[in-house]
Amino acid sequence: MKKVRIALLGLGNIGQGVWRILNTNRNEITMNCGYEIEVARVLVRDRNKIRGVQIPKEILTTDINDIFNDSGIKIVVELMGGTEPAREYMLGAMRRKKHVVTANKLVLATRGEELFKAADEEGVLFYYEASVGGGIPIIREINESLTANRIEKLVGIINGTTNYILTKMTHEGMDFNEALKEAQQKGYAEADPSSDVEGYDAVYKLAIMSSLSFGTKIDLSSIYREGIGNIKTVDIDYAKRFGYVIKLLAIGKETDNELELRVHPAMVPKTHPIANVNDSFNAIFVKGNAVGDLMLYGRGAGDLPTGSAVVGDIISILRNNVDLSNLSSQKNGTVTKKVRNASESSSEYYIRLDVKDRPGVLGEIAAVFGKHDVSIFSVSQDVKNKHNVSLVFITHEALEGNVAESIKEIGTLDRVNNLENIIRIENFN
Ligand SMILES: NC(=O)c1ccc[n+]([C@@H]2O[C@H](COP(=O)([O-])OP(=O)(O)OC[C@H]3O[C@@H](n4cnc5c(N)ncnc54)[C@H](OP(=O)(O)O)[C@@H]3O)[C@@H](O)[C@H]2O)c1
Repeated sequence: MKKVRIALLGLGNIGQGVWRILNTNRNEITMNCGYEIEVARVLVRDRNKIRGVQIPKEILTTDINDIFNDSGIKIVVELMGGTEPAREYMLGAMRRKKHVVTANKLVLATRGEELFKAADEEGVLFYYEASVGGGIPIIREINESLTANRIEKLVGIINGTTNYILTKMTHEGMDFNEALKEAQQKGYAEADPSSDVEGYDAVYKLAIMSSLSFGTKIDLSSIYREGIGNIKTVDIDYAKRFGYVIKLLAIGKETDNELELRVHPAMVPKTHPIANVNDSFNAIFVKGNAVGDLMLYGRGAGDLPTGSAVVGDIISILRNNVDLSNLSSQKNGTVTKKVRNASESSSEYYIRLDVKDRPGVLGEIAAVFGKHDVSIFSVSQDVKNKHNVSLVFITHEALEGNVAESIKEIGTLDRVNNLENIIRIENFN
């Protein structure tokens, strides 16, 4: 049996998951790739830290040169996270003709171009399945299985933390802060949850998926982003009443060679499969012009699911034969397609207002919507107290710019106390 030596950079959650899978599934993995995989070196910050896996101390190192200078190491697996020194170490490995696997969405979304270029120049493979959707094989799906298609649309629930919070709010009536606290206690949310809750994590993953799906470079700042911090239990209740569920969606869409890229909470019909993706699960819905609608569902994080994707990448490299040079694994975009400004995108909207309970207020608001070409599908009115009522409008599809203009003008009306919330509706049309 041929042997191959690899190195891990990082032995945290995912590094330990990879170690466990390589050991537990040793026979299956060897059969699947035709190699016995030996983890020759593991880079860590602290060699003395107590680990959740039993690992010979002599293979732990704090010096990347032990890996760079070992020409017998053919694959480097980056599982440290962050931009630096992850980027520098991956480039260093590629320059030494080592293939690279990573789970690092941040470095891919921000410095991916440089890494793809280096991999192409050096003729090494660069795989990153675990960077989006944890254990869900979405990258390979887009890069291989769906390459006969023009991908028209991606809609993903690609952040487990926010999905867990929204599930708790929907099914158990918790408010946002209670649900966040529980997510933190259960280890689904970090002590500083801002990257997840404010939508940044989903933006990085959407950038990676969209670049591959639409064959273009993606500038992160072109992705519209809105987190879930403004979602109130009353919005969840209205969504239920209207037949919807609120989810944080990452949406990529191509029409007429232009892209729409957005991360924001949205109401989705409760009958759509994506509405039933609960807790920390992830799902990605893809519409291809040949395959039609497709949805992948699974664990978007965690040591073993993510480790499964990482080890899958290692096996793919080995199946391509680590000795081959001038391989090209990339389908990263070389062109840059226009990304529409959010105001040019259109959607149906849920708009909740707090207004004074006086005759004529409804007509006044409806007139403003009409003036800005925003057509109303339905209105619901609920008494809040003696003086104020809650008015909830559902619009037909309208341009975001027009909705924004309407809202600005409605805010100036005497009888309108407050715009309480505005949430897009994604009907998958
Ligand atoms: N956690 C998930 O569920 C998940 C899911 C999908 C993707 N990912 C991605 O997987 C990657 C790893 O995540 P994780 O959760 O496993 O992180 P983690 O638990 O924080 O582990 C990071 C590891 O990297 C090592 N490390 C960090 N900086 C280093 C440096 N400068 N030099 C040497 N070693 C260094 C740490 O060493 P010490 O142990 O000595 O401190 C630790 O072993 C990240 O890119 C993350 O985005 C994670």
